[in-house]
Amino acid sequence: MSDKKKIIFATTNEGKMNEIRMIMADLNVELLSLKDLDIQTQIEENGTTFEENAIIKAKAISEITGEMVMADDSGLEVDYMDKAPGVYSARYLGEDTPYSIKNQTILDNLKDAKDEERSARFVCAIAAAFPDGKVITSIATIEGLIATEERGTNGFGYDPLLYVPEYDMTTGEMTPELKNKISHRGKALEIMKEKLKHEGFDC
Ligand code: IMP
Repeated sequence: MSDKKKIIFATTNEGKMNEIRMIMADLNVELLSLKDLDIQTQIEENGTTFEENAIIKAKAISEITGEMVMADDSGLEVDYMDKAPGVYSARYLGEDTPYSIKNQTILDNLKDAKDEERSARFVCAIAAAFPDGKVITSIATIEGLIATEERGTNGFGYDPLLYVPEYDMTTGEMTPELKNKISHRGKALEIMKEKLKHEGFDC
């Protein structure tokens, strides 16, 4: 039997879970997704902020499993669209609508936007919920501009849209290694790793 500590990550999104596994690879922990544990549950993400939704998910699964559980809530904020789709990013135009359509709709919404009006960011909040009810959170962003067309086939979701000027590419054109180093999720997880170490969590 493995003597590694277990961390359950409350997501069924494989694209996200692949990124999280890469970012957490240096930790001496066994990382399990809800799929790995065969936990099927619908948690209503009824928070109004990324942080609230991350806490709702982490707490709900920690209560079911009795284990320490981490969850993230993330999404795209487009300033020209009053920060939409925001916390509704996964549900934007319907959960099952292909991203080719979601992305094209955002491009259409911004067709008259000037360069300086195209600012946008991915935001990621992470919550760690402990069995005793304690919760720790972290939050980070990656800033960019909405591209004028989809670019790149790496990543998932809205990645082909977020152009990052410093690298002259969208997050969809980045290698997974580069994206994980500079992304909202990568940075929020790094902050969380440090907070967990301060809590004496041996990782
Ligand atoms: P969540 O699973 O409720 O956190 O929904 C996150 C949604 O935000 C995803 O389904 C994507 O639509 C979008 N999103 C979050 N992070 C990224 C990313 O790194 N790349 C592209 N889309 C993302």
